[in-house]
Amino acid sequence: MDSSLQDIIDDARAAVAASADPAALANAKARFLGKDGAVTQRMKALGKLSGEERSRVGKELNQVKQTIDALVAEREAALTKAELDARLAQESIDVTLPGRGLGKGGLHPLTLTIERIEAIFRSIGFDVADGPEIEEDFFNFTALNTPENHPARSMHDTFYVEGRDDHGHGLLLRTHTSPMQIRYARMHAPPIKVIAPGKTYRVDSDATHSPMFHQFEGLWVDDNISFADLKSVYADFLKQFFETDALDVRFRPSYFPFTEPSAEIDMRFATGPLAGRWLEVSGSGQVHPNVIRNIGLDPERYIGFAFGSGIERLAMLRYGVGDLRLFYDNDLRFLEQFNR
Ligand code: FA5
Ligand code: MG
Repeated sequence: MDSSLQDIIDDARAAVAASADPAALANAKARFLGKDGAVTQRMKALGKLSGEERSRVGKELNQVKQTIDALVAEREAALTKAELDARLAQESIDVTLPGRGLGKGGLHPLTLTIERIEAIFRSIGFDVADGPEIEEDFFNFTALNTPENHPARSMHDTFYVEGRDDHGHGLLLRTHTSPMQIRYARMHAPPIKVIAPGKTYRVDSDATHSPMFHQFEGLWVDDNISFADLKSVYADFLKQFFETDALDVRFRPSYFPFTEPSAEIDMRFATGPLAGRWLEVSGSGQVHPNVIRNIGLDPERYIGFAFGSGIERLAMLRYGVGDLRLFYDNDLRFLEQFNR
């Protein structure tokens, strides 16, 4: 082949390779095969050649044209593929990536504990009630056989609240859920079976005491019940709460102004890390005749049993938590563990 034709092919190869997009490629193609392109001009000049030469050079020019057409077609395919790849890369959705998911909330361990306590007591016929956290001095103390200047008032380090109730009585943050005994029993006729869980407040703070904590009160008033009934109900509750039959319960004599006799309820696991140790879980007792009178019932006819248990205490034992303050630090690493 004429060396000048080989030069055209080399030029075309370089121009095609340098074309970065379809428009540049079309320009490059036109430079050789277009109306005034290098190959086209040579084609037009064929007429000036003699017959034999014309046919030889004509064949060669046809080969050059085919070569350039092939180069352009190849480049065009490459550019189209590159463009498609780029678009795919930009718009791609990698369906193999794990989904980001929605943030999942969960219930606080103390809420879970309260729900558990409520479900167990409901299953044995107890109602569930709640009442005010800002309480009248009367319900928190006086009606519970704890008159002003009674030494038991200083057992509770009380948060007092400014202002007075409608009867001119002082207001405070309830120091226990026991005022619910009075509030509920005044509104319901015996037989009364109720628990009242909720927040309580005392000036108290260390690894096992918090200024705000939770109790649940239990009250059972009927005309023919005994300490044995209270003991079996509470022991059954503990067995269901801790999901084990391997625990003992004992009543240890104690003192509360609103019960007589009074007892602390202690429990002991037969197995596990706390096995063998007696643990106090609740105060309890037979409702004092003065309290039965304060709720408007005849103490000669009705017997009542009451208990008041610390909910953090039960949650700590159930979940093996050593410091009650963990419940209130709002550390998600701690809290998330209860919602797996
Ligand atoms: C009472 O509050 C009585 N009202 C219980 C009662 C009810 C007795 C009915 C008889 C009849 P006490 O002060 O012991 O009792 O508190 C009961 C439970 O609350 C304790 O066993 C403990 O588990 C929990 N508790 C008391 N103070 C705190 C505190 N600062 N932080 C966390 N839990 C506490
Ligand atoms: Mg106690």
